[in-house]
Amino acid sequence: MAEAILEVRDLHKHYPLTRGIVFKKHVGAVKAVDGVDFDLAAGETLGIVGESGCGKSTVAKMLVNLERPTSGTIRYKGEDITTMSPKALKAVRRNIQMVFQDPYTSLNPRMTVGDIIGEPYEIHPEVAPKGDRRRKVQDLLDVVGLNPEYINRYPHQFSGGQRQRIGIARGLALQPEIIVADEPVSALDVSVQAQVVNLLDSLQSEFSLSYVFIAHDLSIVRHISDRVGVMYLGRIVEIGTDAQIYDHPTHPYTQALLSAVPVPDPEARAHRERIILTGDVPSPANIPSGCRFRTRCWKAQERCTLEVPLLAVPAVFRLTDSPAKHDSACHFAEEKQVVPPEEPEEP
Ligand SMILES: Nc1ncnc2c1ncn2[C@@H]1O[C@H](COP(=O)(O)OP(=O)(O)O)[C@@H](O)[C@H]1O
Ligand code: SF4
Ligand SMILES: [Mg+2]
Repeated sequence: MAEAILEVRDLHKHYPLTRGIVFKKHVGAVKAVDGVDFDLAAGETLGIVGESGCGKSTVAKMLVNLERPTSGTIRYKGEDITTMSPKALKAVRRNIQMVFQDPYTSLNPRMTVGDIIGEPYEIHPEVAPKGDRRRKVQDLLDVVGLNPEYINRYPHQFSGGQRQRIGIARGLALQPEIIVADEPVSALDVSVQAQVVNLLDSLQSEFSLSYVFIAHDLSIVRHISDRVGVMYLGRIVEIGTDAQIYDHPTHPYTQALLSAVPVPDPEARAHRERIILTGDVPSPANIPSGCRFRTRCWKAQERCTLEVPLLAVPAVFRLTDSPAKHDSACHFAEEKQVVPPEEPEEP
């Protein structure tokens, strides 16, 4: 793998749970993020996938410094941004930008598109001197496929897909190296999702960007991700290359998520197995002992209650050359092909 531009280690975000109004008493914690590790290589796209509430947005907010971790480190080019001085941090924040999920609520309705996209220049005037800003914003509109003459319009004059393009243009304004995109297409119609994903894909090569691309659905990240991490209740439970995760998943949770991914070919669809998970996701304030997935896992045994499975290559695959040899936090990891392999694309 190329050199890591971000290294995340043992990242936690616990929100205290209190009772009482005057004398707030600590009665526990919501463990929104509970020990997350990953690297992001320069130029790479890492997909992060998991059901709603598993802590994806909280990870995203810590990466861009909108939330402070309870513990753990986030190193950007080797330096821990969680302990940096405010001045050093300002320069780093410029290089790590976020694109938000909901293009309807994340853009200020009373600001023009030009002001929205150019707002980051107020904090970082060194990137675009005042006289140069309008032209820069128009360039950005063009880059994301919008007419530069729309610069004086307001968000309500755009469709959902166009608004997300505005959000992306704003994310690009400071010429960052890393974009953290938190479910950037989840709020959009299916018909425009692919267009926005394709735009992000082409911007990546044009501007040498690294992406953390968050989604709740494995089908969306497939084509854009080089690697994928699957999250469950505040932790990554399996991580590997695109091919390892989609074609050779070894964690039961990943296998269950994959079994719900739409398969276009009716023949293949008829033959694949659906894994229906029973039970609800436990509360992040009350995480099961041992393996946190055990209350919904059809393979759970006593060991799963007693021992926390670590995110590492499972012993059974360690000495093999199999694509199943990738990190998976399961005591009984087994390869299971859930989704029929994709036909190679036409040249
Ligand atoms: N500020 C907060 N205070 C308390 N709990 C929170 C806060 N923000 C998020 N949570 C909880 O943390 C968990 C993870 O949330 P989030 O990161 O938004 O998940 P996701 O983006 O995967 O849907 C959820 O149970 C959520 O209710
Ligand atoms: S460790 Fe046990 S409960 Fe957890 S995923 Fe593996 S088999 Fe299931
Ligand atoms: Mg979220």
